[in-house]
Amino acid sequence: MPGGRAKAHDQTSPAIVRSVADLREAVAGFHRDGHRVALVPTMGALHAGHMALVAAAGEAAARTVVSIFVNPTQFAPAEDLAAYPRDEADDLKKLAAAGVDLVFMPVVADMYGEGFATSLNVAGPGAGLESAARPHFFTGVATVVCKLLLQCLPDIAVFGEKDYQQLQVVRRMVRDLDIPSDILAIPTVREADGLACSSRNDYLSPEERTIAARLHEILHDTAARLRGGGAVIAEIERGMISLREAGFDGIDYLALCDGESLTPLSEAKEGARLLAAVRLSGTRLIDNLAL
Ligand code: PAJ
Repeated sequence: MPGGRAKAHDQTSPAIVRSVADLREAVAGFHRDGHRVALVPTMGALHAGHMALVAAAGEAAARTVVSIFVNPTQFAPAEDLAAYPRDEADDLKKLAAAGVDLVFMPVVADMYGEGFATSLNVAGPGAGLESAARPHFFTGVATVVCKLLLQCLPDIAVFGEKDYQQLQVVRRMVRDLDIPSDILAIPTVREADGLACSSRNDYLSPEERTIAARLHEILHDTAARLRGGGAVIAEIERGMISLREAGFDGIDYLALCDGESLTPLSEAKEGARLLAAVRLSGTRLIDNLAL
């Protein structure tokens, strides 16, 4: 059956599996019935951004699987693993309303069993940007996404452009390791004022929330000037000044990069991507725009 959902959305709860054996059995059943399967990997605390991925998965394949796993290996010791928002009941309610067929919720001890010793390093798009501030982040992401793809073996896996470098790391890994899933990318879902939806937005005070919205505005203005022929070094510098003036406490990067390899560009070109990471009190915000 090519794409397309075979059944009407109902409000019945999706089946929940916690072991790889049960996941494989359920997905094998979908495939035996002739359905294509789309996987949406998440860390839960689902918001409108995640739900756009789930909706796209439902359009692209007849059966939708969502994984919820707060992956400890992509958090550095000082990061927010313990504080990361978790609300299983609310997540399941949203996934039921979206007509998701299966939810995979593994436990840490099963994902990383006794003696676990393997990790994946994706160079190329994984170098620089996020990796400068979070050197182990993409190793954690690539390893867990590789595991999830091999555990589920979906026809399609869906990722958000919100985490643009992550998307390119996953694409590179899937290509390099011949993982038989197509990667589908979904544009960033934003709040009314332009701030990209993120679970970490909940950490912001009302004043910080107002400052946070300036990130998208400044990216938008910088991209417009670059499109209009502005010199890259000068426009990036101007953007950094605007970010500081807006009230961000720190700028990890504001960079124009090739949209696939993520190598920095000194001249604007077709397919370029403008990416930024900033800090606001203890919260780190990332965003990006196509040029
Ligand atoms: P998480 O932050 O839960 O995000 C899950 C997926 O939702 C990612 O593909 C992310 O890019 C996408 N997403 C988040 N906010 C979005 C927004 N505002 N618009 C569109 N898509 C958005 O990213 C992860 O989890 C993890 O690193 C994971 C890939 C699950 C591996 O652990």
